[in-house]
Amino acid sequence: MMATFISSSQIDEAVTAVKQQTNQQPTIGLVLGSGLGGLADAISTPDVISSATIPHWPTSTVAGHHGRLVIGSLQGKTVLVLQGRSHYYEGYSMSQITLPVRVMHRLGVNTMIVTNAAGGINPVFKPGDIMVIRDHLNLPGMAGHNPLRGPNDDSAGPRFPDMTQPYDPHLRQTAHAIAAELGFTLQEGVYSYVAGPSYETPAELHFLSSIGADAVGMSTVPSVVVARHAGMRVVGFSTITNMAVPNPAPGTVLTHEEVLETGKIVIPRLTALIQALIERLSR
Ligand code: HPA
Repeated sequence: MMATFISSSQIDEAVTAVKQQTNQQPTIGLVLGSGLGGLADAISTPDVISSATIPHWPTSTVAGHHGRLVIGSLQGKTVLVLQGRSHYYEGYSMSQITLPVRVMHRLGVNTMIVTNAAGGINPVFKPGDIMVIRDHLNLPGMAGHNPLRGPNDDSAGPRFPDMTQPYDPHLRQTAHAIAAELGFTLQEGVYSYVAGPSYETPAELHFLSSIGADAVGMSTVPSVVVARHAGMRVVGFSTITNMAVPNPAPGTVLTHEEVLETGKIVIPRLTALIQALIERLSR
């Protein structure tokens, strides 16, 4: 099957649909993962836009993901919250699942905050920890499934974008300082992106551990690659919802419900962290 590449004029059509439903001009974008959608409730003067009203938008089919955009005010800044992202494993193309990032960028967003649920590979981690992402392993991307594959829009970004610093060092440092003020230790590490939807086998986890992964998950990285291509500043947080270890206790099985449950417990902490981070961002 041919990959579906979203064209610049299709992105424009999506942007137009959003602009018809809000007059607010966001500069900060939040992309929230499984079970972490609650942050949007803290937004004042929200314009809520159903993703079903936006042409070319990939609608999510996963439990725990609402498909909507909430644009409004948070800590004195205008933010756009994307509730419910779509994933490659749902059958969309890389270009389709990253359309929301292109749209955010054209609306004026210059800083993207991403969250996700991830399995903890680093043995120091515990379920309920939050990891700020230092770097990523784009395994599907390295195997040819990169969201930038296909025609390059030179006005959006370069054909061969630099990825030496995908996650902003200053924002990472600020996040550590805020976590310390809030009284918890923020973990930091490498997020390895896998396409899913099956969870990893013991041999796959052994492999991921040996190549330097601290956590594993099925999202975020395509969005980050596109955001960096467009020159946006990125900070990412993984909620460690379960341990992803090659030798689990006998009888241990991993379910999406467990991932959602642990995700819920971390919400207050992650909400406080992100709110404080937004407060300290320059406009
Ligand atoms: N593996 C992949 N994705 C995940 C996991 C995991 O263990 N937990 C949450 N998302």
